[in-house]
Amino acid sequence: MNPLIPLVQIYRLKKHFSLQNSPVKAVDDVTLDIYKGETLGLVGESGCGKSTLGKMLMRLETPTDGNIHFDSCNLEQLSSSEKKQMCRRMQIIFQDPYSSLNPRMTIADILKEPFKIHSLLSRSEMETEIESLLSLVKMDPFFLSKYPHELSGGQRQRVGIARALALRPQFIVCDEPVSALDVSVQAQIVNLLKEIQAKLQLTYLFIAHDLGIIKYISTRVAVMYLGKLIELAPTEKLYENPLHPYTQALLSSIPIPDPRRERQRTKILLQGDAPHPTGSSRGCIFSARCPHAEPICHQIRPKWREAEPGHFAACHRLTPLVSPLKILQEA
Ligand SMILES: Nc1ncnc2c1ncn2[C@@H]1O[C@H](COP(=O)(O)OP(=O)(O)O)[C@@H](O)[C@H]1O
Ligand SMILES: [Mg+2]
Repeated sequence: MNPLIPLVQIYRLKKHFSLQNSPVKAVDDVTLDIYKGETLGLVGESGCGKSTLGKMLMRLETPTDGNIHFDSCNLEQLSSSEKKQMCRRMQIIFQDPYSSLNPRMTIADILKEPFKIHSLLSRSEMETEIESLLSLVKMDPFFLSKYPHELSGGQRQRVGIARALALRPQFIVCDEPVSALDVSVQAQIVNLLKEIQAKLQLTYLFIAHDLGIIKYISTRVAVMYLGKLIELAPTEKLYENPLHPYTQALLSSIPIPDPRRERQRTKILLQGDAPHPTGSSRGCIFSARCPHAEPICHQIRPKWREAEPGHFAACHRLTPLVSPLKILQEA
């Protein structure tokens, strides 16, 4: 499997909501490729636009601008039957399986639904498929006659995963799939997702705010702030050498298990609250909270630069050799 074949190509994607007459730039000009077979981790504080980005990929939100290609097809330009085919190839797993599973349906009916919508299989074929889905998510068939409320959080998320896998997708958006679960169950579900990915050669966009989980599961990590990407790198590079002050602050807040190193850890406290995504469009979006901000940061938006192969960030500090005048001229 070549990790560098793009499966999902996101180009200048925007989603602006209008909230009491002030625009909310939930996603603001995001360009990103997701490669076949990788897990792209997406992190950022609550409200920075992660779910909106994931929903646009699933066509659950319509972009305000920009476009998305899936396997080289522009999603906007497909006929409705092609769109239906395409939808089978991408699925989403939500944070809260309880609210995404119909409480009045048994687990068996919930798992049959995708096949019925796409009217694919005979009754007996469907039953065989459901058995194999259950074994993929390591659930006992005993649960088939149960209702969602009779299951534990972890079991419900297994059903959510099984349902997402029913039509054998290639790409899955995992939107905080373990955030609502007990810590003891989180690792089981993350490991299950990893195992299933290897078995079925899936590509994941894995959204989370837990940086430990993101590090464990991701091939690359994208950091989002106020609707924009501010850094993107292979996981190891991002954790060893974060370039953007926002990423540095996020990483400095992860506790270290070794007590001696934990005492030595310097935590970078961000000043002020996370600004709301209605803010002004001048300068770097992080400048108001950045411990290193210089005058230019409040005036000119930094460009997205490749600091090292595969390691991108948008920060003026990445171009120390370029004079502020040059940056002004370039902008
Ligand atoms: N349907 C909507 N209408 C108006 N604003 C929305 C809607 N969905 C999301 N938003 C706003 O867009 C921003 C990003 O939200 P979201 O994508 O859910 O962030 P995250 O998943 O990173 O927590 C937030 O400010 C949120 O309030
Ligand atoms: Mg979200």
